This record gives sequence, C-alpha cells and structure tokens, in this order.
Amino acid sequence: MNDLRDKYIQAIANAVDESTLEEVRLAAVGKKGEVSLKMRELGKMSPEERQVAGPALNALKDEINSALAAKRAALADAALDERLRTEWLDVTLPSRPARQGSIHPISQVTEEVTAIFADMGFGVAEGPRIDSDWYNFDALNIPGHHPARAEMDTFYMHRAEGDNRPPHVLRTHTSPVQIRTMEKTGAPVRVICPGGVYRADFDQTHTPMFHQVEGLAIDKDISMANLKWVLEEFVKAYFEVDNVELRFRASHFPFTEPSAEVDIRCSWAGGQLKVGEGDDWLEILGSGMVHPKVLQAGGIDPNEWQGFAFGMGIDRIAMLKYGIPDLRAFFNSDLRWLRHYGFAALDVPTLHGGLSR
Ligand code: DAH
Repeated sequence: MNDLRDKYIQAIANAVDESTLEEVRLAAVGKKGEVSLKMRELGKMSPEERQVAGPALNALKDEINSALAAKRAALADAALDERLRTEWLDVTLPSRPARQGSIHPISQVTEEVTAIFADMGFGVAEGPRIDSDWYNFDALNIPGHHPARAEMDTFYMHRAEGDNRPPHVLRTHTSPVQIRTMEKTGAPVRVICPGGVYRADFDQTHTPMFHQVEGLAIDKDISMANLKWVLEEFVKAYFEVDNVELRFRASHFPFTEPSAEVDIRCSWAGGQLKVGEGDDWLEILGSGMVHPKVLQAGGIDPNEWQGFAFGMGIDRIAMLKYGIPDLRAFFNSDLRWLRHYGFAALDVPTLHGGLSR
C-alpha cells in the first residue's frame, strides 16, 4: 500500500501538464487503475483482512484524489501566470512611437493672426478662391482698363466656347472678401479674411499661390487713428515685442482713399531680424480708408459709414518671424523642411497661452 502511495504521489508531483496528470489519474484511480483493481480484490478477502484493507484503500484513494485536485489547480495557476507573463502589455507607453506630422508654418501663422485679431473683436470671414472679375476687380474700384489688373498677373479661367461673359479669375488678393462680407453682414462690421491667393509670378519671393489676410472695420466714426492703433497692437503681439514703431507712407490703392503702406522699424544685425529697434524699415502691408465706391459696391451707404481696410502677406510675415529664407520652400512638401519649420499639432496659439515657443 505504501509503495502504491509513494509511486502515485510522486507521479502526481512530477506531472508537467494536465494531460500527463490525466494519465496518472487513469493509471491510479481510473476504472482499470491500480488502486481500483486493488479495491475489487476486497471481495475475495476474509472479513478480518477486509476490515483492515478496506479503510486503508479508501484512505489511499481519497489521498490520491485530493493530490490530483491540488495539482490540477496548481497547473491551472501556472498556466495563467505564464499567459499573464507573455501577454503583458504596458498601457502607459505612448500610443505612437514619435511625432509623425506637424502644423505647416502658414497654418500656424494664420492661427496666430486670427488669435490676435479675435482678441480685438474681429471675426473671421472667408470667400471663394475662384471669383468673378466683379468681386476681384470692379467692386474694388479697379475698372477694366485699370493698370492694376495688368500688374496683378491674373490667372483667368476659361469660358466655354461662345460664352462671352467675362471670365472668372483665381482671386489675386483677399480684398474681394471685403465686398462679400459687406453684402452679407452690412455695417458695422469688423473682420479679417485669411486665405490663399494667386498670381502668375515665380521667384525667391514670389510663388503662383500664396496667402494674404485682409482686415476690414466699418463703423460710424472709424478713422486712420483706429487703423494705426489696431496695426500697432497687432505687430507687438505678433512679433512678441513690447515696443514697435510704425511708419505710414502715403501710397495708392484703388480701393482706399487715403492709402498708406506700413513699415515697421527693425534691424538686421547679423542677418537676424529684430523688430522695434534699428535703422531699417520693413514694409509689411497696404492699408487705407475704404473708398466710398467700394462701400457702395458692398451695399453700404458711404454717407453714413466709413472704415479702414488693410491687406498683409501671411507667407511674408511667417518668413520674417520664423527666419525662413525662401518663400518657395513653403510649398515644396519637403519632409525635412516640414519637420524643421513645422509646429507640434497640439500647440495651438492663443494670446493667454503664448503665440509661439
Ligand atoms: N489687395 C492689396 C494687394 O493685394 C493689399 C491691400 C492694400 C489690401 C490696401 C487692402 C488695402 O485692404 O486697404 O496688394
């Protein structure tokens, strides 16, 4: 009996998995197992022998069964531990191995400009990039014979054969959005209009597609003084400097009267632009008081309302702020350039959080 016990307790201890354990169970207490066969022999024993052997065999059977149950549980635990070990996953790892994309400097600067003007109460308006020559030219007091049409190197759309209406154009500036905004909202109004514009020109400082932001403020008593203050606030916030000096140079635009081009005081010491100090001037935009004919074209009575407008190159001010030397690189889709000059996707510029880092 002791030999039997030692043999099976040992075999149970040695079983490495459930199927070996099942073989041991069958060999010991299965129908034809060694212990079961022994129990069958009880019948042939004398009553005295049976009284000793019976309880002993039952005890052995119980002992083997509980050893089997304990081993089965231990094997299941070990199997679970093994699974937990091999299927382990660190949920605290970042979901992506590295930063994959970035915000293009043009998008970033558009957001910066929008944040600054929004803080001064300007909404954002958009218009179509393909527009009629009326919105792009006539409504802005640029009639058909006007030299500004030729100067703008306009891209014209094709009309179908026999269609003699004037062709649509790829808008040459964001100024047509002034007219669309006036038509839509009337006066008073305060908006900026950022977006892509097109001209047939290509060199280090010109690309056939580039970006502008238009500004428009119309009210009963808006003057050049308001324009000057708004632009000063903008330049300080955008270039992140406390002091700036603006120079208004008399100029001419068909859609403003009077008109001014605006320069900011700067220095280029060591090839590095510093805004607000130095002996150089940097032209950044065109502006003026909205021409009465333009207000009229937008459906606003020039005897009752007046306002200022300005137009600025987004790509240009992006190049100045972030030290980007060649305009054409903006649109080459060169990944190395995009990684170098791009911005992290979650660094949304705000006035309270900081425009740039
Ligand atoms: N539309 C002009 C351009 O593309 C820029 C401009 C100048 C816009 C003066 C204005 C303005 O609103 O008042 O060159």
